[in-house]
Amino acid sequence: MQTLTLPRPDDWHLHLRDGAMLTGIAAETARHFARAIIMPNLVPPVVTGAEAQAYRDRILAVTGSGFTPLMTLYLTEATDPADVVAAHRAGIITAVKLYPAGATTNSASGVRDFDRVRGVLEAMAQAGIPLLTHGEVTDPEIDIFDREAVFIDRVLDPIRRTTPGLRVVMEHITTSDAVAYVQSQPDDLGATITTHHLVINRNHILVGGIKPHYYCLPVAKRETHRQALLAAATSGDARFFLGTDSAPHADDAKESACGCAGCFTATNTMSILAQVFEAAGALDKLEGFSSRNGPAFYRLPVNDATLTLEKSDTPVSYPSKIDTGAGPVTVFDPGFPLYWRVL
Ligand code: DOR
Ligand code: ZN
Repeated sequence: MQTLTLPRPDDWHLHLRDGAMLTGIAAETARHFARAIIMPNLVPPVVTGAEAQAYRDRILAVTGSGFTPLMTLYLTEATDPADVVAAHRAGIITAVKLYPAGATTNSASGVRDFDRVRGVLEAMAQAGIPLLTHGEVTDPEIDIFDREAVFIDRVLDPIRRTTPGLRVVMEHITTSDAVAYVQSQPDDLGATITTHHLVINRNHILVGGIKPHYYCLPVAKRETHRQALLAAATSGDARFFLGTDSAPHADDAKESACGCAGCFTATNTMSILAQVFEAAGALDKLEGFSSRNGPAFYRLPVNDATLTLEKSDTPVSYPSKIDTGAGPVTVFDPGFPLYWRVL
């Protein structure tokens, strides 16, 4: 029996939602992960330090203290730099999330004119508060498969040039363009990679019938991009780390004429990653990707607690759906049997 023991992993990009959905799915993450960066795209979004503190309390009421939610604020054109800095100084928030308006689920209050958030970004650079980007332009002229690459040129690189010292995480990267950009820059730039983008390409969504549970944003790209993500994740380069972007939607909202974006991977992420890294001949790099590189970027200690995975001869079973008070949520199906079980 082969086993693998890691420092307990963290999830550097997670959607926990609120109310009955939060209650129903929080344990799926807290079972394996010590900490997670919590996305602020609630309805309405989490925009002030006081709202982040209240949301953190609601999460902790569900998970108990064995799990640490690291809170973020949703950047709007009306965000007050002083509130951001005060919330960070008080230990309420870890980072600030930039959604271009209209880019994804609940992003209507996001940023339209990037010049209008310059003051907040400058305050964040001075205080050492990371900016987390949803890196897609929303220009209707730009093809959805090109939106990440165009964001780098039109938005991200200009922001980083005009705001020296701003630490940035490119969230859920999906292209070789994003990998190459990170590799070309100093280490004040990092990137998260999701579990599902290491597994699926756009064929998985569209070939043989449309598969709504593989639809997320940024949408999975062609296979060469998945290969670039896999190479980055398994390279040992500390600028790449795990952010699952596990994003629960009830099945009726996914299996719809206008289905929501999001893959729910919290339940089986560590099993999938062990398998993917092993298949790439890089099982020894999983510890960096899921347990060490994220804390290094965020300047936080690596967790003392551990997580052990065991490889069995027969496939492990995991639920195909999580039943929540907000409806059933389908667990991501990697499309191959999993042999690594979290003990
Ligand atoms: O697929 C996604 N789902 N991408 C996002 O950026 C948002 C997320 C959600 O909140 O459902
Ligand atoms: Zn997300």
